[in-house]
Amino acid sequence: MIKKQPSQSNQMWGGRFNSAPSNIMEQINASIGFDKRMWREDISGSKAHCEMLVAQNIISKNDGTSILNGLDQVAKEIENGTFEFKASLEDIHMNIESRLREIIGDAAGKLHTARSRNDQVATDFRLWVRSACDDLVKNIESFQNILSGLCKEHEKSIMPGFTHLQVAQPVTLGMHLGAYWEMMDRDKSRISDCRKRLNESPLGACALSGTGFNTDRAMTAMKLGFDKPMANTMDAVAARDFATEFLFATAQCGLHLSRLAEEIIIWATPQFGFINLSDAWSTGSSIMPQKKNPDAAELVRAKTGRLNGNLIQLMTVLKGLPMTYNKDMQEDKACVFESYDTISLCLESMKGMVESATFNLQPMREAAESGFATATEIADWLVRNLDMPFRNAHHVTGAIVKMAEEKQCRLDQLPLADMQSVEAKITQDIFNSLNLDKAVESRLNK
Ligand code: ARG
Repeated sequence: MIKKQPSQSNQMWGGRFNSAPSNIMEQINASIGFDKRMWREDISGSKAHCEMLVAQNIISKNDGTSILNGLDQVAKEIENGTFEFKASLEDIHMNIESRLREIIGDAAGKLHTARSRNDQVATDFRLWVRSACDDLVKNIESFQNILSGLCKEHEKSIMPGFTHLQVAQPVTLGMHLGAYWEMMDRDKSRISDCRKRLNESPLGACALSGTGFNTDRAMTAMKLGFDKPMANTMDAVAARDFATEFLFATAQCGLHLSRLAEEIIIWATPQFGFINLSDAWSTGSSIMPQKKNPDAAELVRAKTGRLNGNLIQLMTVLKGLPMTYNKDMQEDKACVFESYDTISLCLESMKGMVESATFNLQPMREAAESGFATATEIADWLVRNLDMPFRNAHHVTGAIVKMAEEKQCRLDQLPLADMQSVEAKITQDIFNSLNLDKAVESRLNK
């Protein structure tokens, strides 16, 4: 005869317990506050598992049908907001199963045959991260489209290129934004790569060692869109490197966005004046009426902190964990959800800001003209025309720049006689190389 459980002990695993967990135990143990976000994945995973159990004659067709219908009913309740999530039921898996039991009765208990929460949670989480990857790839692509539109539009718009935030050489705004397109492209490929590697099914690994039931892991893998079942059942329940990879890919993408955010902040200062942010993407100051602050860019820059923090958090949680599942691993989800939300918001903000901004081409060009950006062209001219070793040419050009600096004029405004006082063999032809557009064009596509 089955011993009746004390009413307060957990209905899912309380068989060997005489009393209910303490309140604080319930609090530290519960993950429902965040893992309810995986309800769709949990229901898909359970449906695939149930169909397999029926196909393999492990449970009856009748039980299978009522489980599937019951799960649909649960999905409806969650969708329309009438489902009551309970912390006493710990997590999304037990909340759903418990409600299933209320709806269909004892047959609900058969769903967990040949399954453990360990392979269940690993499956749900992989499915969730997989669709997050798909979504992020689309989000990055739409940002890339905005960037490529601007790259085309500004393929000839001259601006200073910087190193050390000092004017270095003339470039075009198209080239500058094109660098971000490339960064986004690598972020996209990192996310796609993470998706590719994570797309194997842990389902059927059960607690850690598989099951004696005659399950068909290839069938559940196929139903859930996985490429194949994971080869090692212990690895299947213990692995979370897909989550750390995802966190790295999002942190790296955020880091790239933070660099663009920083540039927008600098460009939007009156001192630079390269960009005007639209009113929709700026805020005012409550005390200084003249201010138009680039808050969204500053926040994108700052959010990198969270993204980096989440990566470090999970790597720290996982470090040194023995095989296989450990409850520590429950701490893997909140950080992943947060990084996904954060990077999505950053991408949306960046899209909005960049798309609605106006670039001030005149100040950009002037900054390139006044910052001795064509000094390298002089050195190159000396090398080409006077057969001067580059090191010497660099030195001679340095003296010419110093002269222009003292006279407070641009390089192309310095009289030929002054240049010749530094190097007598310089001719008028050198001025042809000081044309910004030509200087840029001579370097393109190399
Ligand atoms: N909520 C748990 C988690 O997120 C599910 C797995 C629990 N497994 C266990 N053996 N207690 O990790």
